[in-house]
This record gives sequence, structure tokens and C-alpha cells, in this order.
Amino acid sequence: MKYTVTILRFNPEQDEKPHQERYSIEAQEGWTVLDALNEIKWYRDGSLSYRRSCRHGICGSCAMTIDGVNRLACETQLATLKSEFVVEPLRHLRVIKDLIVDMEPIYTKLLEIKPYFIEKGPPPSDHERLQSPEENKKLDGLYECIICGSCTSSCPSFWADGEYLGPHAFLKVNRFVADSRDEGKAERLKLVDNRHGLWRCHTIFNCVEACPKSLNPTKAISALKRALVGGQF
Ligand code: FES
Repeated sequence: MKYTVTILRFNPEQDEKPHQERYSIEAQEGWTVLDALNEIKWYRDGSLSYRRSCRHGICGSCAMTIDGVNRLACETQLATLKSEFVVEPLRHLRVIKDLIVDMEPIYTKLLEIKPYFIEKGPPPSDHERLQSPEENKKLDGLYECIICGSCTSSCPSFWADGEYLGPHAFLKVNRFVADSRDEGKAERLKLVDNRHGLWRCHTIFNCVEACPKSLNPTKAISALKRALVGGQF
């Protein structure tokens, strides 16, 4: 099957502005967008730059905008696309080169919300901190984030406010607030209750559409808003 791949290219060291380049490829059955990019880089144009690592939808490094939607290149089958499609870097993140963006804002915001257990006392001496199956079940849909940046880069609130914490950070906050073993719930909620926090979410649901793991950051944001308003978590 023949495909025409249009890629938004930009090398800040050489180019004044981004430009499109088109490549025609002959794809084999079962190829993904990542396979197409590899074909172009390995056999056509070695200067093309993009991130990839696991090739199994785990590391999150190959997130990019494919035909206007944020997706993982390694999980997007060519068969699901038209014979001509466009690949661009994630939006509203600084382009380092071609499809490689600066993920620093994503990681910085994650660190701001303390993505680790907060414990007030010493751990039990003879066993781990225990959790019932029911308590553990509450974390489903909250812990699977691979930090690919797809949700936050698709969010209009992030486009309007670069300091906005972003859906990926709120999902992580909810992951700890919902965890029976965490003792920092009030502290965490305080971290997201500000002008760059929860209240800037306008429930547009772009993050839900963009998440390659089918997670629901909007639901997590609503849960945190309820916790803040109701004082219960
Ligand atoms: S290469 Fe790891 S998620 Fe695509």
C-alpha cells in the first residue's frame, strides 16, 4: 500500500520557520506510523528526528500529532489512516527538532504536585503498607499514565496559560488522593487549588480524546474539584 506522509520539519539551528516535507512510501501490512517514520529516516532522509524507544506503547516517547490528533506513532496503524496523512510535533511545546519537543514543562508540572507517597509516620516494621483489593481497585484508570504529554499538549487551557498544571498532573494528583496509603491528601489538594490549577479546566474533554491509554483526566479533575468543594476525599 502506498502512503504519502507529510511531516512538519523544523531545525531551529537552520530554519527560520517550520515547513512541510512530503514522502511517498510503500508500506507493508501491519505497519504503524513509527514504521513509516523509520522507513523514511533509515532509507530516505537520515536528518529526520523523532523520539521512540519501546515500540510497544509503554514509554510514551513517540507521542506526536497525527492528522490533527495526538497519538502514539508506535500504536497507530497505517491501515487506520488515509493514504495521505500529516505528522506534526505535539502542540504548544517548544520544538527541539522536527517531531522532538521539549518535555520539560510536562515533567516540571508533574514534580510540582509531589508524585510520590507522602507519609506522616514511619512505615510498619514487619510488613509493607497494606491495601485491600477494594482500596486498590480505586486506583484503576489513575495509575496507567505513561507521561507522553498528549493530554496536556491538546488542552486549550494549557495553550492559554503555560503555567497551567495540566491534565496529566491532575490525573497523578487524583491517583494519590484516591490511594488509601497516602497521607498527604490535604496538602495535595492545596497544590492544585490556585489560578494555574483545577479551576482553569473547562471540561473540554480534549485530554480524554488524546489519551492513548484511554484514561479520563477530566473525570479525575471533577473528582478533585468535588473533594475541594466538599472537603471529603
Ligand atoms: S515508542 Fe514507546 S510508546 Fe511508542
